[in-house]
This record gives sequence, structure tokens and C-alpha cells, in this order.
Amino acid sequence: MKIAVAKEQDPAEPRVAATPDTVKKLKALGAEVAVEPGAGLKSGLPDSDFTAAGATVSADALKDADVVFKVKRPEASELASYKRGALVLAIMDPYGNDAALKSIADAGIAAFAMELMPRITRAQVMDVLSSQANLAGYRAVIDGAETFGRVFPMMMTAAGTVPAAKVFIMGVGVAGLQAIATARRLGAIVTATDVRPATKEQVESLGAKFLAVEDEEFKNAQTAGGYAKEMSKEYQAKQAALTAEHIKKQDIVITTALIPGRPAPRLVTAEMVKSMKPGSVLVDLAVERGGNVEGAQPGQVVEIDGVKIVGYTNVAGRVAASASALYARNLLSFFETMVNKEKALAVNWDDELVKATALTRDGAVVHPNFQPKSA
Ligand code: NAI
Repeated sequence: MKIAVAKEQDPAEPRVAATPDTVKKLKALGAEVAVEPGAGLKSGLPDSDFTAAGATVSADALKDADVVFKVKRPEASELASYKRGALVLAIMDPYGNDAALKSIADAGIAAFAMELMPRITRAQVMDVLSSQANLAGYRAVIDGAETFGRVFPMMMTAAGTVPAAKVFIMGVGVAGLQAIATARRLGAIVTATDVRPATKEQVESLGAKFLAVEDEEFKNAQTAGGYAKEMSKEYQAKQAALTAEHIKKQDIVITTALIPGRPAPRLVTAEMVKSMKPGSVLVDLAVERGGNVEGAQPGQVVEIDGVKIVGYTNVAGRVAASASALYARNLLSFFETMVNKEKALAVNWDDELVKATALTRDGAVVHPNFQPKSA
């Protein structure tokens, strides 16, 4: 059983899919592990750390690997170096990427999309969306603080008192909850909003204040799976009026709102941005999915009349060492379910975790959500 840890080809991807710690555990499972040279460098993991953990470092790591651990989906140009029949575990970003899925299927790869892991108790330890969103929520606050020209905590000094910063978190999923906790730790006055009623108690338990239009629609706004629904135009208008008044008075706004399979909801209009004081900062964590803030640009900090909109992409990658450590543990935990007692690769294709994540197999796209459209 040969595992390869790929070096990411995207220069903007600093994470790596294994760490010396997970390499040791993979070896204990009976695997030989080969790491592409430099794979961990941007996460602070030199090749020598991997060899010390029992891996080999080789430019040919992928060639005869039965399993490839990766962060991002392999592009068509990379697939030539993969063995037919290899399993690949990565964040596959499958929505709207039919051509990429087809090229993976054509290469005979069995691709598993880690982000499709069901959110059930057994799979919590494999939940890459949570592990990475948590870090992105933390980092969004740090990025906001770095861009802001004032301090977060109230400071009473001999030279006078500096007021605490007011921070508003929009969208209280995994990232939003961590953003609330981080902003509170830094001493800010924190408020937060979400369309799922269950979040109200979570916000309050973190010492922040909840703000939302709490009508009948709001009370039913959560799907059975625990996700947000797209809200009616009427609700959005009421909520926008409430938040518009609030945003005017905020120093930092951090947006994290997402709806699975849909573009990110537009929560902050250009007019609301304009209503903020010069020096205020917005951080849009949804920028890669269309953005919650009007005017946010992926990978850029945009300034409009003295208000800055931070649109960094791959925000978890901005704390790459931590992100890699958690991502590697997520992958290891999923892979453990694919190895039998005889220490051999034995994928149970009927397992619900495998069924939910397997995109391609034996030359075809097998996931029901991504079937090629019939002509
Ligand atoms: P997400 O990344 O899909 O969305 C972020 C947040 O944006 C959500 O809280 C959502 O309600 C909110 N949102 C959407 N539209 C909005 C709007 N118009 N205005 C304000 N907020 C809006 O969410 P994430 O972080 O993936 O969490 C989704 C759910 O999954 C949560 O209930 C979370 O507790 C649950 N979860 C369950 C896990 C498990 O293993 N059981 C693990 C992780 C999360």
C-alpha cells in the first residue's frame, strides 16, 4: 500500500495534506509513504521532518502510488503522473467543474471530495469544512485587526481612554462562531446575526449580542440538515433595514454567510459600505463564492472613501501550518476507514462516507449530484 503526499501545484496554496505526525500513523497502518520534495515547506514542514517520520522524499512519489493525499483537486495537466486506479483524497470543488471531473474520471482515478463528508457524529473528525472554516474565522479577525488603524480593547491610559472596537459578525456557522470568540478575546464589543434561529443562543453563550428580524419565517429558516435556506425577498428587505442601521455604527464587519450549492447572499450593499466611518474595515470570507459585500474583490483589499474591504482568498491557508495539521488529521481519519485488519487497502464502496464523497471510479463520474447531462 503506497501513499503519496503531493506538492500543491497552485502557488497560492500553502497547505499540505500530511504532516510528520500523520505520516507516522499512516506507516502504522501498513503504508509506505512518499512525499514530493518541498510539499510541506510553506506549512513550515521541511522534507527532513518527513524523512525523520519514516517517509521517503521523491520527485516520483506519485508514479506508483495507490493513494494520493492532496489539498486541492488535481488539474488535468497533473494527472499524467498518477497511476490508473489510484485513489485521490482532496478538496475537489466539484460544483460547476464538470470538465475537470471528466478528466479525472478519464484518467481512471477514484476521486474523493472531502468537503462532501456527511456532517454526522462518526465523520466529525473528517470534516474539512469545519476544520478549515474555524481557522478562517479566526484569521478573518486577525486580518481585520491588522487592517484597522485602531485597537480592539478599551484602553484607559494616562494619556486618555481609547474606546473598544465594535465588531459585527454576519453569518454564525463554524467560521462566524470562531470569529466571535476571537474578537471577544481581543476585547471588542461583538454583535452577530444569522438567519438560523439556533444561532441566537450560541451567539449569546459566547458573550456577544444577537441581532435579527425574528419573525415566523426566521423561526423556520433552518433545513433538517442544519443549513440556512435562501430567505424570501421580504425577509431580506426587513433584515437589510435592520442591519443597515447597525452597520453604520460598526468599526469592523466580518461576513461569513453561505448557502450550500448557491451563490453567497449579498448582505452588505455599496450604500451600507458608504455609511460606515472612514477607517472602518469589512472582511468578506464569502468572497470566493460571489461575496457577501458589494465591491469585495477576491484576493484584494479595496478602499472606498476610507473604508477598506478585505477579500483575501484561501483564508485558512493564511494560517497554513495550523490548517495543514488539522486537514492532515481529517484525511488520516477518513483513510483509516479504507484499510482492513490485514493492513491492506479495502474501500467499502457501500459505506455512507464513501458513497457521499466518491466522485469518480473506474473511468466514470459516479456521484449522483455530478452525473454528466444526457444529450
Ligand atoms: P455555512 O458555511 O454553510 O454558512 C455560514 C453561515 O451563514 C451559516 O450559519 C448560515 O446560516 C449563515 N447564513 C446563510 N445565509 C445568511 C443570511 N442571509 N444572513 C445571515 N446569515 C446567513 O455554515 P457552516 O459553518 O458549514 O455550518 C452550517 C451548519 O452545520 C451549522 O448548523 C453548524 O452548526 C452545522 N455543523 C454541524 C457539524 C456536525 O458535525 N454535526 C459540523 C459543523 C457544522
